[in-house]
Amino acid sequence: MRFSNRLNRRDFMRVTALGAGAAALAACAAPGAVPVAPAASGGEAAAAGGGQLEIFSWWTSGGEVEALNALYAIFSERYPDVEIVNAALAGGAGQGGNMKALLETRMMGGQPPDSFQVHLGRELIDSHVIPGRMEPLDWLYEEEGFNDVFPQELIDIASYDGKPWSVPVNIHRSNVLWYRPSKLEAVGASAPPATWTEFFEIAAALQEAGIPALAVAENEPNFSGHVFENILTATLDPDAYRGLFDGSTAWDDERVTAALETLNRAYDYANPDYLSTSWGDINDRFVADDGPAMMIMGDWTHGVLMSKGFTDYYWAPAPDTTGLFVVLSDSFGLPVGAPHRENAVNFLRICGSREGQDAFNPIKGSIPARTDPDLSVYDEYLLSAMEDFGSNTLVPSIQHGAAAKQSFVLDYAIAINILATRRNVAEAQAALVQAAGDAEFAM
Ligand code: GAL
Repeated sequence: MRFSNRLNRRDFMRVTALGAGAAALAACAAPGAVPVAPAASGGEAAAAGGGQLEIFSWWTSGGEVEALNALYAIFSERYPDVEIVNAALAGGAGQGGNMKALLETRMMGGQPPDSFQVHLGRELIDSHVIPGRMEPLDWLYEEEGFNDVFPQELIDIASYDGKPWSVPVNIHRSNVLWYRPSKLEAVGASAPPATWTEFFEIAAALQEAGIPALAVAENEPNFSGHVFENILTATLDPDAYRGLFDGSTAWDDERVTAALETLNRAYDYANPDYLSTSWGDINDRFVADDGPAMMIMGDWTHGVLMSKGFTDYYWAPAPDTTGLFVVLSDSFGLPVGAPHRENAVNFLRICGSREGQDAFNPIKGSIPARTDPDLSVYDEYLLSAMEDFGSNTLVPSIQHGAAAKQSFVLDYAIAINILATRRNVAEAQAALVQAAGDAEFAM
């Protein structure tokens, strides 16, 4: 087993839109009134003699809840007098819709929680750092030795104006095909589809047998945006895909049209009620005897399925993405004016610690952001994800905040929802072109 979290820095910055974007922004905008020198926050464990710790997240699904609780358990053991207020908001879904809306309101109203979940990358920087609502964490990275244990490439993504602004707790993979081997075998498929051509062959056989091939939960814009990013990465080469976020690849490119056509065709093989199916429903359906055979979703699905005690599933890269790792990372930061700042800082220390990451990630279905995990606690899927992370070409996830700013993510998800509901490729592509124009992508 080869394990390497270490990437060639140049490659990583090239493959993600993140580095270039951050540099460009750094050149033209100073972070607003970034307040504070992190006061005497000092390293020694703050007295943390009590008070509260309010943590915002959209982690309300199976696996996510237990993983977050594992972090809380470590915190409570160290700081038994602090009351943890878990402000996780149900219905947040992939891009954290409801949770992010409420968070935005509180942040803008000067009433931040003590810390909150945020995707590393454009989401963190554009939404919260540039407006001056976060504290820099360079001092914490130094105190905790994070600079030595996070890959430099992740630190670069977390950074703006030369300083990191949040602590990554994991690395998730977007481009995973989860499948029910028993259902594929029922139609004579001994292996999952490696390509979209194979997918449609197997899907036709499944349809004959009355089995939906693809799980889709599009009762709100989100799920289809996730599937679509994994068709885009399958259809465009990595450089052209990255170019979608710096203006060098146009969103009216014919390869984007081809990707939309693939998704549009895939809906013919989805659970027919996909427009009224929610994220919670689809996970229940996937484990049912009469549910769909395959689902393209990030590896938090591994966490969800494990939490259900379900075992009849396996994984493969999403069709035509072998050798690619569509990457995103969850992190926690320190808002300016966090009401219980010392408690928040102590929580961040745990998020970045080996103990914290090795407790959280095996349950969450993600791999650690640290390069020094205890490999013995990770299962077969996660070890394979670590291996792929170290050897594959990395490209940033759109739907989960790594590739582009939050306003684009919302417009993007709505454009793909238009395809899901109206099944009109030209209309969806026009919406994507409009979204990219509004986002003003530039090198
Ligand atoms: C992602 C997030 C994951 C998981 C997922 C659920 O955006 O990074 O940790 O919460 O949403 O939809």
